Amino acid sequence: MQNLIIVDHPLVQHKLTIMRCKDTSTASFRRLLREIAHLLCYEVTRDLEVEYIDIETPVGPTRAPTLKGKKLVFASILRAGEGLLTGMLDLVPSARVAHIGLYRDPETLEAVEYYFKAPSDAADRLVIVVDPMLATANSAIAAVQKLKDRGANNIRFLCLLAAPEGVERFAAAHPDVPIFTASLDEKLNEHGYIVPGLGDAGDRMYGTR
Ligand code: URA
Repeated sequence: MQNLIIVDHPLVQHKLTIMRCKDTSTASFRRLLREIAHLLCYEVTRDLEVEYIDIETPVGPTRAPTLKGKKLVFASILRAGEGLLTGMLDLVPSARVAHIGLYRDPETLEAVEYYFKAPSDAADRLVIVVDPMLATANSAIAAVQKLKDRGANNIRFLCLLAAPEGVERFAAAHPDVPIFTASLDEKLNEHGYIVPGLGDAGDRMYGTR
């Protein structure tokens, strides 16, 4: 599928398998999500431009690469996005952060917004939207639309698991936004959960139910 990048690194797949197991503890789930976020962040930032600057090492002068351009924006879809965000910030601590509060109406599965805060100059930055589960894609589509309304025009979407139905809907709504994921799962069930999936990512991260 065009615009879908599956990060099939063995370490990602191994950690994901442990996260899928229903008996994995909250503490392990949270730690593994943070670790996988490091590996996914590495892939989603792989083609960032660098520029060369003059520095002095203890041994002598050299020209060395640094990231070029404005700081990135990581946009976390609350609340499960926070689990990926933590790991992303470990690798890019200077990134700006947007928060988008959306919950799924349990009847309609539509995304309902309750919070939005983003840097005002998102238009000049690469924005990476993070949410572990791309299921119906309602939240992802709404979050990206909100960022575009704020002027963002260079956006990537990063998730842990994606359902084919969600990928299709998201790509139709935002064909310019590539999706990075650790797995394309089989399908959605009648409750909008990804199958085989890992259950409710927020509940598993925070030990709620
Ligand atoms: N959100 C989740 O947390 N899990 C799913 O399977 C689908 C949406």
